[in-house]
Amino acid sequence: MATHPVHFDLSPPPLHTARLVCSLASGKTLFLAPGFAEAQPGGGCLLHGRPPQAALLRVRDLTVQLATDTGAAIPVVEAVSFDIAAGEAVGILGESGCGKTTTALALLRLLPPGGKIVRGSIEFAGRELVTSGERELEKIRGAEISLIFQEPGIALHPMRRVGDQVGEVIHAHRGWNWKRCREEAATALAQVFSGEISRISEAYPHQLSGGQRQRVLIAQALACRPALVIADEPTASLDATTQAEILALIKDLKLRLGVALLLISHNPAILAGLADRILVMYSGRVVEEGPLERVYRAPLHPYTKGLLASMPRGASESPAAGKGKLPAISGSPPDPARLPPGCPFEPRCPDRLAICTTRGPAEVQPEAARRVWCFKYGG
Ligand SMILES: Nc1ncnc2c1ncn2[C@@H]1O[C@H](COP(=O)(O)OP(=O)(O)OP(=O)(O)O)[C@@H](O)[C@H]1O
Ligand code: SF4
Ligand SMILES: [Mg+2]
Repeated sequence: MATHPVHFDLSPPPLHTARLVCSLASGKTLFLAPGFAEAQPGGGCLLHGRPPQAALLRVRDLTVQLATDTGAAIPVVEAVSFDIAAGEAVGILGESGCGKTTTALALLRLLPPGGKIVRGSIEFAGRELVTSGERELEKIRGAEISLIFQEPGIALHPMRRVGDQVGEVIHAHRGWNWKRCREEAATALAQVFSGEISRISEAYPHQLSGGQRQRVLIAQALACRPALVIADEPTASLDATTQAEILALIKDLKLRLGVALLLISHNPAILAGLADRILVMYSGRVVEEGPLERVYRAPLHPYTKGLLASMPRGASESPAAGKGKLPAISGSPPDPARLPPGCPFEPRCPDRLAICTTRGPAEVQPEAARRVWCFKYGG
């Protein structure tokens, strides 16, 4: 069997303790997330086109119901399956209401009251989260999987200094003394600010700009050195310039720290240049999945084609350029409580076939590493 020469590079140690370097790879580095501090048996090499066999996150058939005001159950996420490898960035793209946030909240078992996972499996670093107890989940949330919220103004406590708020997350998970937690918080803030760490650490949220508050939230999310960060519309509340800065920061952190990312956006331009792979969601279902570059260059599903047609030219090079008003796909997504029979996209689909109203399409793999749910390709 061919061997793969590796060595461990322990310097500089930003947040992760060990990095795996492929010596065939002239300067490129593979990062190991916490829990993966040794080469995995059968582990692959991303640099040489062989993905690791063990996914960090393995989601299968995830099906979620939420409750209406009257208590009726509505299907919001249906049979969603995907993997995220250590260090990989996966994007979820879809219009408002397609189930992106519900999927993310389900991963952390943080569904709103009345919400429940009715079927499926969420395996994280070998542990099944669907059946985990609350104490186990509390250890994972914020420490091994963290969430960056959309609105930094709401996510931060207005009456507490931001350095303390980062330190509190570390204290809750590590139980170190307060001095050590504050030092670690300063280290986390230094990952996302180029200077003035003491001033920022002592500031209250209202003394910082929206972009600075979002940086604090990113520092907080990284403070316990998670293996996976979920960022749900992380730049939605920011102006175009600040949005571009935060996206550049997330990209830089991904490369420097090797943390896996689940990035959620309704805007294809936000995910361009950030995500390695993309899941396109419609009406609670994944309708297309594949490497971002290939999906963006040659989308298969009519819905993906419509979304990408609304992306301004050049937006993939300049994410902030996608901030303007985008031409919409005609019609609107169906109410999850009243889904049409057959393919949920059928009422809006320019390519509909006779079979499309009879049943939902099954998964088709038209080429390696790509999946699509559409009768045009079989199903
Ligand atoms: N707390 C809730 N109770 C009942 N229904 C909800 C609740 N939250 C969301 N929904 C419904 O679930 C569906 C999916 O919502 P979700 O927030 O996951 O979509 P999204 O893709 O994140 O949308 P957006 O881009 O607007 O954030 C929508 O139809 C929404 O109306
Ligand atoms: S299955 Fe039919 S209706 Fe649905 S996206 Fe494909 S062609 Fe359109
Ligand atoms: Mg959302």
